[in-house]
Amino acid sequence: MRILLTGGTGYIGSHTAIALIEAGHQVTLLDNFSNSKPAVLDRLREITGVTMDFFEADVTDEDALDAVMADRSIDAVIHFAAPKAVGESIARPLHYFENGVGGTVKLLRAMDRHAVRNVVYSSSATVYGLSEDLPLTEDAPTSVINPYGRTKLMCEQILGDLFASDSSWNAIALRYFNPVGAHPSGLIGEDPQGVPANLVPFIAQVAVGRRPALTIFGDDYPTPDGTGVRDYIHVLDLAEGHVAAVEHLANKPGYDTINLGTGQGVSVREMVEAFERASGVAIPIEVAPRRPGDGPASWADATKAARVLGWTATRTLDQMTADVWRWQSHNPNGYD
Ligand SMILES: NC(=O)c1ccc[n+]([C@@H]2O[C@H](COP(=O)([O-])OP(=O)(O)OC[C@H]3O[C@@H](n4cnc5c(N)ncnc54)[C@H](O)[C@@H]3O)[C@@H](O)[C@H]2O)c1
Repeated sequence: MRILLTGGTGYIGSHTAIALIEAGHQVTLLDNFSNSKPAVLDRLREITGVTMDFFEADVTDEDALDAVMADRSIDAVIHFAAPKAVGESIARPLHYFENGVGGTVKLLRAMDRHAVRNVVYSSSATVYGLSEDLPLTEDAPTSVINPYGRTKLMCEQILGDLFASDSSWNAIALRYFNPVGAHPSGLIGEDPQGVPANLVPFIAQVAVGRRPALTIFGDDYPTPDGTGVRDYIHVLDLAEGHVAAVEHLANKPGYDTINLGTGQGVSVREMVEAFERASGVAIPIEVAPRRPGDGPASWADATKAARVLGWTATRTLDQMTADVWRWQSHNPNGYD
């Protein structure tokens, strides 16, 4: 298949490009570099030996989308492109609705014009809100607590409505849990701009000396060690989940939502210990009060992905931290 990856030079998109090429597919990447660097394309060539078919464009630009689709025979789209920071979404909701929701509508319209009706959408476990009914199955009630989460849930609903209106569409919304890790080459990985909003990139920047200490927000949760528990998934497992999902579109599944997680919870302290094992660096810690909007624990019921897609995460916590450490220590300032 030829697969268009919007947000293709981003963290998850770049790893998925590799997994798709390894599975024998052809990829076209589209990105506006709002949260990624052109250097990713050189690194991808180094890893895969393939020069990427790349289009610098904004997903809200319908003319650009038309140009990409007119010139290529696209079989399916994986739609990653969207801003993704919860805090920023509270400060700039219209930016999130314009790009996250508006961009998705423009993309789907362009796909429709070019009769490309197969799409895999980047959703998130954030659509479960603060549900404590664990493990989280796909039919757990959804609720959102910030504009970012709302963009994800709205896009899921748009895909469901689209399929209801025209059954020639096939759309799978993948609800990611917490992607971490990097390609084992150490050439690509997560490169957040500014202060990392996620735990593992923050720990990695402490380990490499860019930040003095890790702040743990809350060590009085009702969890075994008092710190928050999340389902961390290696980004290459996640990437392989996309390969399975995009290939499953050929079975005409209609519209579906599927969790991508490991089904295992890991606490903040366990993650710090794993990172210390991988790096040999002691991570200084400060404990601060809980943050509003954080729940005690969240992990996936990952059985639907195994049943429907034939996919399960296989990489361990120690592989995740070893790969992050290789990426961060070889690239202390990310792609810069
Ligand atoms: N990383 C996570 O923890 C996580 C969890 C759940 C869901 N997701 C979703 O997965 C997707 C990919 O996440 P990621 O971690 O790879 O993020 P990322 O920021 O690394 O990648 C997104 C890419 O999209 C590009 N982009 C953003 N807006 C665009 C626009 N309007 N037009 C064209 N390109 C645009 C950015 O430049 C970036 O390269 C996002 O939709 C995100 O919301 C991520």
